[in-house]
Amino acid sequence: MTHIGFESDTQPDTKVQVEGLRVEFDLGRRKITALDGIDLTIRRGEFLVIVGPSGCGKTTLLRVLAGLEEFNGGRILIHPDSDAVQRPDSAMVFQEHGVFPWMKVRENVAFGLKASGMGRKERQRIAVEYIERVGLAPFADAYPHQLSGGMRQRVSVARAFATDAQMLLMDEPFAALDEQTKLVLQELLLRIWQETSKTVLYVTHSLDEALVLGDRIIVMSGRPGTIKDVIDVRSVFPRPRQVAAVRTDGRYGAMFGRIWNQLRQPEGDQA
Ligand SMILES: Nc1ncnc2c1ncn2[C@@H]1O[C@H](COP(=O)(O)OP(=O)(O)O)[C@@H](O)[C@H]1O
Ligand SMILES: [Mg+2]
Repeated sequence: MTHIGFESDTQPDTKVQVEGLRVEFDLGRRKITALDGIDLTIRRGEFLVIVGPSGCGKTTLLRVLAGLEEFNGGRILIHPDSDAVQRPDSAMVFQEHGVFPWMKVRENVAFGLKASGMGRKERQRIAVEYIERVGLAPFADAYPHQLSGGMRQRVSVARAFATDAQMLLMDEPFAALDEQTKLVLQELLLRIWQETSKTVLYVTHSLDEALVLGDRIIVMSGRPGTIKDVIDVRSVFPRPRQVAAVRTDGRYGAMFGRIWNQLRQPEGDQA
């Protein structure tokens, strides 16, 4: 099995370098190849979106980068932001069930800080700051079941940004939300990301979401997942960016079409 390496002396703007990544799952009698030949550079501080059909290995890629899944070929180099960090300095945000139901909002947000060895008071101070940033101040002492789905995802976002992790791995965090809530949370996410210097790797199956959020978009093919295209969105829609303004821009449709053409190639045509 192959493991993640740490490397501090290559390109200064590189956060993560993935080379020839291959991931197989052993299903007893046979193996399935989830990812194959993935080459990918994640730049420090960028908002990189991965879009691809269901089952192409997006979640697997995030789990490998988070150190939760092993891989079978290729290599991954993570460039630490400080010499102290010799572990994957990332935090994950999931589509659903990312918060602990038995913890209050403030405990959920502070939870990610426990690992850093910070004192209780300092953890509480940071938690409250991020709870305010995501607009949940009145609900700091509520339990997740007392919140809407959108509010629970705000808790997940607050928890991830509150940690000292330099890279956030977000797996379709807004996929289960209604359109209006999604739009509000997309704006919120962009604002918080712009206020910090974190690197975000954001997975979605939504072409629209990829276009409104990403600096660059990686388009993946169906299983085994390979990279078909890399689109530089930032040169067309610079920052700071308003989600609604991107959607009404004439160039949005052309870029949407370009991604769709990549996804509808035969091997991605499984719908
Ligand atoms: N733990 C596992 N064991 C066996 N197969 C898996 C496992 N995790 C994922 N897979 C398979 O790997 C492929 C990619 O899955 P996944 O990364 O979840 O795709 P996506 O997130 O793009 O929908 C799928 O065919 C899935 O069934
Ligand atoms: Mg997935």
